[in-house]
Amino acid sequence: MDHKSDKNDAVEQQAGGQSMWGGRFASGPSAIMQEINASIGFDKRLYREDIAGSKAHASMLASVGVISQPDCDAIHKGLDQVAAEIEAGKMVFDPALEDIHMHVEARLRELIGDAGARLHTGRSRNDQVATDFRLWTRGAIDALDAQFAGLLGALIDQAEKHAGTVMPGFTHLQTAQPVTLGHHLMAYHEMLSRDRARLSDCRARVNESPLGAAALAGTSFPIDRHMTAEALGFDRPMANSLDAVSARDFALEFLSVLSISAVHLSRLADEIVLWASAAFRFLTLSDAYSTGSSIMPQKRNPDAAELIRAKVGRISGSMNGLMMVMKGLPLAYSKDMQEDKEPVFQAVDDFELCLAAMTGMIEDLKPNADVMAEAAGQSFSTATDLADWLVRVLNLPFRDAHHVTGSVVKAAEQLGVDLKDLPLEAMQTIEPRITSDVFDVLSVEASVSSRTSFGGTAPENVKKAVTAARKALK
Ligand code: ARG
Repeated sequence: MDHKSDKNDAVEQQAGGQSMWGGRFASGPSAIMQEINASIGFDKRLYREDIAGSKAHASMLASVGVISQPDCDAIHKGLDQVAAEIEAGKMVFDPALEDIHMHVEARLRELIGDAGARLHTGRSRNDQVATDFRLWTRGAIDALDAQFAGLLGALIDQAEKHAGTVMPGFTHLQTAQPVTLGHHLMAYHEMLSRDRARLSDCRARVNESPLGAAALAGTSFPIDRHMTAEALGFDRPMANSLDAVSARDFALEFLSVLSISAVHLSRLADEIVLWASAAFRFLTLSDAYSTGSSIMPQKRNPDAAELIRAKVGRISGSMNGLMMVMKGLPLAYSKDMQEDKEPVFQAVDDFELCLAAMTGMIEDLKPNADVMAEAAGQSFSTATDLADWLVRVLNLPFRDAHHVTGSVVKAAEQLGVDLKDLPLEAMQTIEPRITSDVFDVLSVEASVSSRTSFGGTAPENVKKAVTAARKALK
């Protein structure tokens, strides 16, 4: 960019010699001013919403008699042509025209003249951009909702397949108690279902119309904000014009929802990375979601999972970025708020990709059931089952049972055997009342099958959860 060419007359030259706001200015903005001011580079993504908003506004203006019906018809026809031109890649984007709103309007005026110049009656770019952005966010929410449904469906399918596949459950990443893979996957189903519900809660607050708040104070024209709100599928017009043009909490809330969900995806991604490692060998990654190494021919790297694990940084970064943009801003609109769109666009692009990649990985999941089963029985994972048996059969208080079990584990450790392979006599030297019945509860399968408490890991529970989840998804 040539920083020396200080003046730029494009704003003056646009739309047949009349600028959008240059009336009181003797000269155009400097090149640097133009560069820092322009948002067209990113807000062109709002063109559909901008045109829909303008159409609704024009129809309303005609219906209340502020513009004529022929002007309204010309505006609609002209806007359709502008949309077609943008879609065909024919629109020339020029930073001198700042943003998508001015691009659309300038082209409309070129196409239809005076009628186009009447469109901006009773409206400002402040309510216009807030309207466009809310419409766009609503569309993104709806697309993400469908993507969530796909991922949840994939988790449910795999959970059903693996309702009885045992694996170690961990706390502190130490083997704790056996669980089923189906139960583990359904835990993510729960988290992601809540994320999806949060998204839908957030949608309700996104879906209010700022249109007609005008610059900040409303307008003296007899506009009908209820009419434009309804035409655009909003639930209602926003109640306060100052709030309508300055509120961005809808975007912050949306980014918070994405951030929380990205955290959830990163946890699942991390487990995929761990489980695919040689130390775990719980699963084999499909070719579709792994990559090779340029130097080590044997490598199969879980790059997709690693990148999902990493993307949360960008997504929560977007949220924090916008939080800082909004902090301390006085009412009403400030240009700072133009910086609201990129973080949201970026976060949506990142998050969509994460959902798509995670869905693919879950669909392709190939667990090594034997390895998982073996690991599930290691590290005295059924010690709690022994303690529970002592409580149930010998009526020991749980604390005492815990102590006895600790001694039994120590004995097994010294002999280098699992609990189920420890001779009965060895147990009886610690607690003489233990009988051979105890071995019924020491296997991994017995352990998981016994955990039938509500929300527990038993295969029959997993099957019920799968049925309920599938029903809720429909
Ligand atoms: N491009 C601007 C934005 O995204 C549109 C609103 C401009 N309003 C103004 N008063 N200059 O925020």
